[in-house]
Amino acid sequence: MSSNYDPASEGAETEFARKMSYGDYLHLDALLGAQHPLSDSHDEMLFIIQHQTSELWMRLAIHELRAARHAIASDEVPPAMKMLARVSRIFEQLNNAWDVLRTMTPSEYTRFRSRLGQSSGFQSFQYRQIEYLLGNRNEAMLKPHAHDAEVMTLLEAELATPSLYDEVLRLADRKGLAMPAVVLSRDVRETHRFDEGVLQAWRRVYEAPEPNWMLYELAEKLVDFEDYFRRWRFNHVTTVERVIGFKRGTGGTGGVSYLKRMLEVELFPELWRVRTIL
Ligand code: HEM
Repeated sequence: MSSNYDPASEGAETEFARKMSYGDYLHLDALLGAQHPLSDSHDEMLFIIQHQTSELWMRLAIHELRAARHAIASDEVPPAMKMLARVSRIFEQLNNAWDVLRTMTPSEYTRFRSRLGQSSGFQSFQYRQIEYLLGNRNEAMLKPHAHDAEVMTLLEAELATPSLYDEVLRLADRKGLAMPAVVLSRDVRETHRFDEGVLQAWRRVYEAPEPNWMLYELAEKLVDFEDYFRRWRFNHVTTVERVIGFKRGTGGTGGVSYLKRMLEVELFPELWRVRTIL
């Protein structure tokens, strides 16, 4: 291509004094004006952008998960499937992103870590919203947000709403796969605990997928998603161990020991257990 080629000659718009441009539409001034390293360490920019992009992807994941939950509650399963597939892809994207962060060595991180003070991903309200939406509901996790009334309202509202899995179990019940009454009427503020009746219901689906195809496909979508989420947790704890070893977290937990405990979380316990009894 000639170096004096001008795309305007074939119609590319170049005059934006009074028109909305790419940067206007995306509010790039706000987005690209939001990186404020607190040290002169070269690698702090990576650390900031990695967290900010994760928060953006989480924002989309919440958008999709809430819509999927609503669709399931309204018996509109096909659009929910599409949205859940997208959420898995978002998590795949987040999983791949760890490779970029892992290029930061412990020596590099140590140069600016003290500048973070007590701040930590542990205080990510969007991450907590995702956990609550999916059904991992620990009220103690509200505490770091007590100072922020808006976030508290949002997280409290999430706790008062049935989780994605609650809605899937209710849908299954409506479609003739009887679920235990105690599960359907449980206090949704609590985390759903493994239930033998729910396991036996899923067993019927997995033993005869064809007549139960819609529920079978939906259950596998959930497993697919939890699979990606588990990988995110695992990648996080591995990156953390690689970068800070067994130091305490800036947020005050034991660090790797806390994150390893979180690897035990099961969002959809019966869907994992059913595999053993088939
Ligand atoms: C060098 C990079 C990182 C280190 C050393 C690190 C370290 C930690 C540690 C030690 C914790 C436990 C809480 C605490 O005491 O602070 C934690 C929690 C957390 N971090 Fe990271 N992290 C890193 C990168 C990231 C990134 C890129 C994200 C993406 C948003 C993230 C999101 C989270 C979340 C959501 C939690 C809470 C997890 C839960 O409660 O289950 N972290 N991190």
